[in-house]
Amino acid sequence: MYSIVEKTETVPNTNLVKVRAPAIADKARPGQFIVIMVDERSERIPYTLSDWDKEEGTITFVVNEVGRSTGKLVGRKKGDELYSVVGPLGIAPEISNVGTVACVGGCFGIAAILPLARAFKEAGAKVISIVEARAGYLIYLEKELRKASDELIIATGDGSRGIKGFVPDALKDLIDNKTKINKVFAIGCTFMLKLTCDATRAAKIDTQVDLCPIIVDATGMCGCCRIEVGGETKFACVDGPFFDGHKVDWDVLGFRKAAYVAQERDSVQSSKMGVKQ
Ligand code: FES
Repeated sequence: MYSIVEKTETVPNTNLVKVRAPAIADKARPGQFIVIMVDERSERIPYTLSDWDKEEGTITFVVNEVGRSTGKLVGRKKGDELYSVVGPLGIAPEISNVGTVACVGGCFGIAAILPLARAFKEAGAKVISIVEARAGYLIYLEKELRKASDELIIATGDGSRGIKGFVPDALKDLIDNKTKINKVFAIGCTFMLKLTCDATRAAKIDTQVDLCPIIVDATGMCGCCRIEVGGETKFACVDGPFFDGHKVDWDVLGFRKAAYVAQERDSVQSSKMGVKQ
């Protein structure tokens, strides 16, 4: 039912996967996510939607191979079927002309931030997109991001493209140069999200971060995605995925995300030894 229509490794270990899922494509909104099971025994993994096409009935998301289940997905090819795709999930951020919006992303977030950039630009906001990577050759979807933004800033750790540094450095530069930013949306690894919030805290810029804890049922029932925001317990799957980054308890998030690191390591090891999951 959920067949892979296209799978492209756009830059090393970054796979754009397009899947037939008409019901999801029909209802998807920027910032929402899906949960995928590759086969009936694989874990349930959340992916933020990076694109969808209602006419074609397809959705697109990015997969980085980081463990056994993502490895399984990366190993699938065009025409293969996925066991389950659930979505669209999560509360889509309100889109309006809020002034200047910085849409920032790293890794899979480079693709995932694109629908938000497009939507804010269409709503009349000024969009500054900032993307980061270790090196210039890891930046992708540049043409699409330029089109969706008033300004695109590229930041690379080795300085081979754009500014030398990462998203928080680029944001700090903008803030120091008195660029008015009304809102920031950030998608990427937890470390980048936290540093992004550190960069915007003093200037009190509303910073919405896309949190991605471990997800199981994605309906608010299992409690697996529990996080702390502003001293309150929230479930990322139904209360998020976007939260006020200045109120997130990053220690709790990091601790809970790391809960199964040892098991994941064992699983990858056993798969290399040919043990079936
Ligand atoms: Fe179970 Fe959110 S994933 S409550």
